[in-house]
Amino acid sequence: MKKILLCFGTRPEAIKMASLVHELKKSGKFTVEVCVTAQHREMLDQVLNFFEIVPDYDLDIMKANQTLNELSGRIFISIDSIVEKAKPDVVLVHGDTTTSAICAWAAFHRGIKVGHVEAGLRTFDKLAPFPEEMNRQITGRIADFHFAPTSMSTQHLLNEGVDKKTIVTTGNTVIDSLLWTKNKLDSGYQNDTLDNLRQLIDFNKKVILVTGHRRENFGDGFLNICHALKKLSNNTEVEIVYPVHLNPNVQKPVLELLSSTQNIHLINPLDYPAFVWMMSQSHFIITDSGGVQEEAPSLGKPVLVMRNTTERPEAIDAGTVILVGTDTQKIFETAEELLANNETYKKMQHAHNPYGDGKACMRIVEYLEQKL
Ligand code: UD1
Ligand code: UDP
Repeated sequence: MKKILLCFGTRPEAIKMASLVHELKKSGKFTVEVCVTAQHREMLDQVLNFFEIVPDYDLDIMKANQTLNELSGRIFISIDSIVEKAKPDVVLVHGDTTTSAICAWAAFHRGIKVGHVEAGLRTFDKLAPFPEEMNRQITGRIADFHFAPTSMSTQHLLNEGVDKKTIVTTGNTVIDSLLWTKNKLDSGYQNDTLDNLRQLIDFNKKVILVTGHRRENFGDGFLNICHALKKLSNNTEVEIVYPVHLNPNVQKPVLELLSSTQNIHLINPLDYPAFVWMMSQSHFIITDSGGVQEEAPSLGKPVLVMRNTTERPEAIDAGTVILVGTDTQKIFETAEELLANNETYKKMQHAHNPYGDGKACMRIVEYLEQKL
């Protein structure tokens, strides 16, 4: 039986690979193993727990405030002995993180084939998102199989000369995980985090859900974001809920500037079902997250994206996402418009999702069954 080793390390990779781990195991045609670098620790473990994934290998490499080069070096050294020992036929990596690029590279050095899930997204600006645009391009150059979420991402790969027989347009696996989780919530799933949220937040008001973590927004970008949220909180008819990413470069400005505001709830990163529930209860979302841009349209929630460029233009074209950058006034005014103008809100609220139908993992597994 051919062996597939899935390597991932951060929260979003885990969410997007979780459904694939289960679908591959369900196929029964492969030996499936999971290696986590633990580039993230707590935020990764939240996902592993919920999706009931017990890694076969855990490199446990996270250090507080890690630099990109330290992180890359630690992953390179520790993944090598795993690929040597596990001897997989294929390594699957996801998206654009340091874990993905380094694990792909390490597999290539050992002569092992690489499959890239969420391939072909591009901004063509190597500084935005930084370093993710280059991580994704490097991984794409190394990969033998490319699982592209949309026809646009497939086209990017074709334009770069990638052999069409190695590309499959699958939809994004995040939608598989989202729909599975939503189903679970709709069937009565409960946990303590959900109970706490119900007590903490006044859902009679309009709830704005916020997340942010991009490296290119560190410094002035985050200060501007916080000023915009502070201004928005003067409207006492809104509740702002902000699960703060554990990166110290995010925690510091956010806690310093927003801690003492009554209708801004700064909370720990939420477990995945609680975050999905919060998205579904929110009026709209302000974020710089890639994954949230893909999920929110399925829930009919408008998204203001605090970035100047995005590798996910499909949602902008679909009208559910607006880029607002990190300019305080632009964030504030666009959010105020969405709060005040029902017409604008309704136009953005289509529950149409350009990112998938929840069957991405099935398509990836079918392709691998044929190829291997
Ligand atoms: C990483 C990815 C980014 C992805 C993001 C998702 C890279 C270069 N960046 O960025 O593409 O969008 O994850 O969230 O791969 N920390 C903890 N506990 C955790 C997680 C993080 O304490 O569970 C803190 C640590 O101090 C850590 C720091 O956050 O050093 C930064 O983590 P890192 O993975 O390097 O960067 P992210 O900004 O999380
Ligand atoms: N998410 C979560 N808890 C939170 C915030 C986000 O589970 O408190 C989920 C969200 O639903 C999405 C993913 O984490 O699936 C996005 O992760 P992040 O924004 O950290 O990374 P990105 O998608 O930008 O790479």
